[in-house]
This record gives sequence, C-alpha cells and structure tokens, in this order.
Amino acid sequence: GDAVEFYGAHQAGITTPAQDRLHFVAFDVITDDRAKLVQMLRDWTAAAARMTAGRDAGLLGAVEGQPEAPPDDTGEALGLPPSALTITVGFGPSLFAKFGLADRKPKAMADLPRFPGDTIKPEISGGDLCIQACANDPQVAVHAVRNLARIGFGVVSVRYSQLGFGRTSSTSTAQATPRNLMGFKDGTRNLKLEDGAELLDKHLWVQPDDGPQWMVGGSYLVSRRIRMIIETWDRTPLAEQETIFGRTKGEGAPMGKAKEFDEPDLSLMPEEAHVRLAHPSSNGDARLLRRGYNFVDGSDGLGRLDAGLFFLAYQRDPHKQFVPVQRSLARADVLNEYIRHTSSGLWAVPPGVKGPEDFWGSALF
Ligand code: HEM
Repeated sequence: GDAVEFYGAHQAGITTPAQDRLHFVAFDVITDDRAKLVQMLRDWTAAAARMTAGRDAGLLGAVEGQPEAPPDDTGEALGLPPSALTITVGFGPSLFAKFGLADRKPKAMADLPRFPGDTIKPEISGGDLCIQACANDPQVAVHAVRNLARIGFGVVSVRYSQLGFGRTSSTSTAQATPRNLMGFKDGTRNLKLEDGAELLDKHLWVQPDDGPQWMVGGSYLVSRRIRMIIETWDRTPLAEQETIFGRTKGEGAPMGKAKEFDEPDLSLMPEEAHVRLAHPSSNGDARLLRRGYNFVDGSDGLGRLDAGLFFLAYQRDPHKQFVPVQRSLARADVLNEYIRHTSSGLWAVPPGVKGPEDFWGSALF
C-alpha cells in the first residue's frame, strides 16, 4: 500500500519493484498549439505527483469543489491507499515530426525494423505519447490513466490502451519470480534494481555521450502486445514445453541444472530454445529490463481466449538491445509457433522530474 517516490534522477516505474497491475495507454496529440501541449505536460506532472502520493488528481479533489463544476478528480480511488502507483511517461517517434522537434529526435528513436512473422496492427501501435501506470490495485492504475486523459481533453486523445495483470517479470531480487500465461517463471535473468549503478548505466540509462542531452538519465521503452495461442500450447507435452524455453517448468532451472538461479549452460539447450537465443552471449551482450504483464482481453470470437503477454522492455539503446535480441528470436525461436506480435511501440522515456517546479520533458520543450 506504500507510496513510491515520484521525484528523482530517473522516472519511477522502471527499476521500481514491478507491481501487480498495469494500465498502459498511448495518446495522439490533437492540437498544433505547442503551448497547450507544454501546459498539459505541466498539469500531468502535478497530477501524477499527487496521485502517486495517494491524493486526488487536482487540488479540490473529487468532492470538495464547486457543486456547479465537474470535480477535478473522478473519485473512484477515494479511500484507497497509494498501492505503489507509478506513472511513467514516454514520447513516441511521431511526436518529433510535430512542434518543430525534428532536430531533437534521438537517433535511438529510428523506426524498429519489421521482423519476420510480425502481424502488427497499426491502430494499436505507435502514438505520440504513452503513459505506463503500474499499481498493486487495478482501480488505482485505471484511476491514474483516466484522470490524465481527462486533464488532456482537447490536447490529446486516447489511441489505444492495454490492461495487464500478474507482472511477468521481477525487477528486484526481493521479489519471487512470477509466471507468464504459459506457466513458466518469467524474469529470472532480468536486469534488476540490485544489479547496481554500473550495470544499469551500461544497459539501462542513457549516458551523456549517447545524447541527446535532454534524454540523459532517461531510457527507451519497447512495447509489444504478444498474443499467445494458448489452446495450441496447452496441447503441447510438458517435455516439449520445457525444451522450447530451455528451462524446467516447475523450478525454472536452466536445462541440465538444478536450481532457478544456476548459471545457464547454453550448450545443454537446443539451438532454437528461447533462453539460448535471447541470452546476452548470443546477442553481443545485449541485456534488457523486462517489465511486462499478462493480459486476457476477453475472447476472439473463434472460441479462443484473446490472451498473451504485454511485453515492456527498457534499455539504453533499442537498436543495440531489443532489435538484435528480437532478430534472433524472430529468425529461429520455436516459441514463434505459439505467439504473434500484434502491436509495437517505441518510446523515449525522459529522465525523472527533479522537483515540484520541474515537469516531464522540460528539457525537450
Ligand atoms: C527469458 C518467456 C518474449 C527476451 C525468458 C524466460 C521465459 C520467457 C520463460 C526464462 C526466464 C527468464 O530468464 O526470464 C517469454 C514469452 C515471450 C517472450 C512467453 C512471449 C510471449 C520475449 C521477447 C524478448 C525476450 C519478445 C526480447 C526481444 C528475453 C530475454 C531473456 C528471456 C533477454 C533472458 C535470457 C537470459 O539471459 O537467459 N523469456 N519471452 N522474450 N526472454 Fe523471453
């Protein structure tokens, strides 16, 4: 139920121990008035600082304002604790085509390539801005997104959104490794908070030499909605499921080893095993901080659950990290028979907000 600190060198919601619930939303900017966008980012930041502390989105709140005016908080989180709410903002590639920002677009924001097997739907991909709201109570996460959308009325409109449950990665060694909807422990060999500044600077945070200056201390987020064909998966024998990942289902141990955290010996796994193909040593030492969530968005009208993994991964440079790993996976991963990537997003996640006078993206605008 505790509050997570909103201000800091980095945005919260990245190395913060992954909460149980996600509400992710992508927005399109619908104004060409730059001042309005900047004002909205100021208002968003102020509201986020309040909501992550467990307070109403606006000063007057849900019930203390003028009876003649709509309340400046929607009210559904009244009485609920902060629930470790974090609100993390990102800027999409299309934003840099607007407002004269083209020369400030990071090189790292060059479009992701099309990968073999991709079935990306444009209407649930891309966007000018994104918000990742994570909390241990779904109502708190939804409340945050809803109020930011309300504050953004006339400036942004919701392009698509995704709810997630049951985090599929641990981002701290203090957390037990959760399971994805294929039943496997997910996040064993993730980048974690406790990996220390040196490793996180190397793989996660944008460094002064990387440029642009406004992104230093920030990170890049890749979002992929990955549908699982779980009915086919559920008819696959246990031994085959384990060979596909290269790990055991119960303990999560790498093949040929006894314990979850034993060092994987890749030579003991098939060449097409997910863990072998995704391993840093197969991809020029590329590492990711994965922070994804399970989803079940009802059924697909064909007698199947519309279920999967909303994959979220943070990194210092997506073209040196996500892209080579996903290239390896798209080329050979035996898991591909059971999954489809249906949406894609690339986001520049600026550094943290320094204090009450600062706002998200202040160095960009
Ligand atoms: C490892 C599942 C997609 C990158 C793993 C593990 C599982 C898993 C069970 C082993 C435990 C662990 O170390 O976390 C899945 C499922 C996916 C999926 C079910 C799709 C539905 C992806 C994608 C990427 C990725 C799209 C990146 C492009 C990795 C990496 C590791 C990993 C880097 C750690 C490899 C290592 O260092 O041993 N995944 N994954 N995964 N996965 Fe995935």
